[in-house]
Amino acid sequence: MHDFNLCLPTKIVFGRGIEARIGTELKALGATRVLLHFGSGSVRKSGLLDQVEASLTEAGLTFVEFGGAQPNPRIELVREGMEVCAREKIDFILAVGGGSAIDSAKLIAHGYATGRDPWEFIATGEKPDRTTPLGTVLTLSATGSEMSDSAVITNGDLKRGLSTPLNRPLISFLNPENTFTVSKFQTGCGIVDTMMHTLERYCTPDTDTDLTDRIAEALLVSVRDAGRVAIAHPDDYEARATLMWASTLSHNGLTGCGKDYAFTVHKLEHDISGLHPAVAHGAGLSVLFPAWMYEVMERDVRRFARLAVNVWGCTMDHDHPARTARAGIDAMRAYFREIGMPTTMAELGVTPADYAAIADLTTGGGTKTPPSCYGELTRERILHIYNLAE
Ligand code: NZQ
Ligand code: ZN
Repeated sequence: MHDFNLCLPTKIVFGRGIEARIGTELKALGATRVLLHFGSGSVRKSGLLDQVEASLTEAGLTFVEFGGAQPNPRIELVREGMEVCAREKIDFILAVGGGSAIDSAKLIAHGYATGRDPWEFIATGEKPDRTTPLGTVLTLSATGSEMSDSAVITNGDLKRGLSTPLNRPLISFLNPENTFTVSKFQTGCGIVDTMMHTLERYCTPDTDTDLTDRIAEALLVSVRDAGRVAIAHPDDYEARATLMWASTLSHNGLTGCGKDYAFTVHKLEHDISGLHPAVAHGAGLSVLFPAWMYEVMERDVRRFARLAVNVWGCTMDHDHPARTARAGIDAMRAYFREIGMPTTMAELGVTPADYAAIADLTTGGGTKTPPSCYGELTRERILHIYNLAE
């Protein structure tokens, strides 16, 4: 087991009816003037925004609405949000929505507190030294941004992440009922993304991390089963609750303790949804992850076979463990199809004519390679992964 640090300062308030507590909880954190940041309107339509605003008013807090975060959020809106914060003398930012609204809010928080353009942090690798107090009201179980140390933003066709402990919200309100209205497609995207945050940590060269691996396998099995139920019955509270808690645990660091990981497939996916903003993050992962597994599995057959047996119900073929590993990847792909997710590049609207441009984005035109646990991922190998996903 490698050495590790894990600091999870986010207070989680989980369950039905928690919206009524938002005002008092924020007040206890020192909030007086709150920026409410959200997406393109689902929270208004569902009535959630009204509930949040009523709770803030009840606690004597004032608020300013600032919506418009798009899926794959953009830096321009972040800059606008910083101006609103300054004009309105905001002292707390509350994101109400999915990963896009939350990530956009995180970057507004850093930019407003530091007076710097947040893209500078991404471009230079410098980290913000302070931020604005931030909370979330989650409406989509997927990214784990409600407790993660990351934020992802797009500038032009560059989609990039910023990792810093300051990205972890002070508080997150998780009511599974707020995800009943999520479409089947976005529910599927969320299931895949949640699985991938754990799998990116799990699919790494074997180290002695049995406890972490078993936590990972338990999470994956729970998501697999709850996912089936939520797709068939969108208002099944227990299934939605499992998916919501899993999305939070899957990307807060728990399922990677003691492991050394690279998040390679996320990097590959971000370059696809950067160039093709209509591609949802979870859909891109659903196509790329199995293809990446086929590409690398020979380098770590034991681990991929363990996953096949413990998560995908395959029987271990001790004479031919590679067959077991391959059967596990096939089973995962079949599961993605079962829940309505794409498994080919064509289904994403990405054609072979696009491959070179995406691979160039990832490799700087063949001059660098993305982080990888299984050997250098050259431009050639990346193109091979796209071909495996055809
Ligand atoms: O914008 P609104 O109107 O809210 O609609 C959204 C959007 O159209 C809708 N939606 C959300 N909650 C809903 C709902 N519709 C009905 N009922 C609800 N309760 O769903 C659509 C997608 O929302 P979005 O926030 O874009 O999805 P998601 O949560 O998957 O976030 C994706 C973004 O997060 C990044 C992704 O790359 C992408 O940019 N990620 C962030 C991470 C992090 N910060 O830790 C890690 C992830 O790996 C990921 O990269
Ligand atoms: Zn993800």
